[in-house]
Amino acid sequence: MKKITVFLSLFTVASALLMQPVQAQFAKPEDAVKYRQSALTLISSHFGRMQSTVKGATPYDAAAIQANVEILKTLSVLPWAAFPAGSQANSSAKAEVWSDAAGFKQAQQKFEGAVVKLSEVSGSGDLERLRSAFGDVGASCKACHDSYRAKK
Ligand code: HEC
Repeated sequence: MKKITVFLSLFTVASALLMQPVQAQFAKPEDAVKYRQSALTLISSHFGRMQSTVKGATPYDAAAIQANVEILKTLSVLPWAAFPAGSQANSSAKAEVWSDAAGFKQAQQKFEGAVVKLSEVSGSGDLERLRSAFGDVGASCKACHDSYRAKK
């Protein structure tokens, strides 16, 4: 009887683990902070490296820019599942991330939409269109930071 109970509870734990969505799951709040800051660091790197092309300082290599924007697109959806309630400590996230969750969500969607638009023009070879779409993404970063990221 006891063995069966142990077996059943192990089975319950195992199936609960298996049934967890593939979305980010974090054992500790600081794991979530590390994950989202890492994702945002990568986003910043892949966004920033296009700046010299946008400024006209580097020739517009459409294939390279397109490949980079594809990476940015993949990254753009990653940070947002890593803002669980109770994970503000030791981070630059403002309390408004949680108290104004709808606004924070809207800022994410605006950013993701701007990245999709950037991906649509990134391979065009048209520098003016690239510059404009790049500017819109940058504005969406800033808009979110203004409301939801604390200045250090
Ligand atoms: C929807 C909101 C939102 C958008 C959009 C957004 N960020 Fe942020 N960003 C944040 C928040 C909130 C933090 C603070 C995260 C923390 O400290 O836990 C942050 C942190 C960062 C950091 C610091 C990461 C670290 O190591 O502490 C960088 C760099 C950054 N963002 C760059 C960008 C860039 C570049 C873009 C656009 C290409 C962007 N972010 C778009 C909300 C956003």
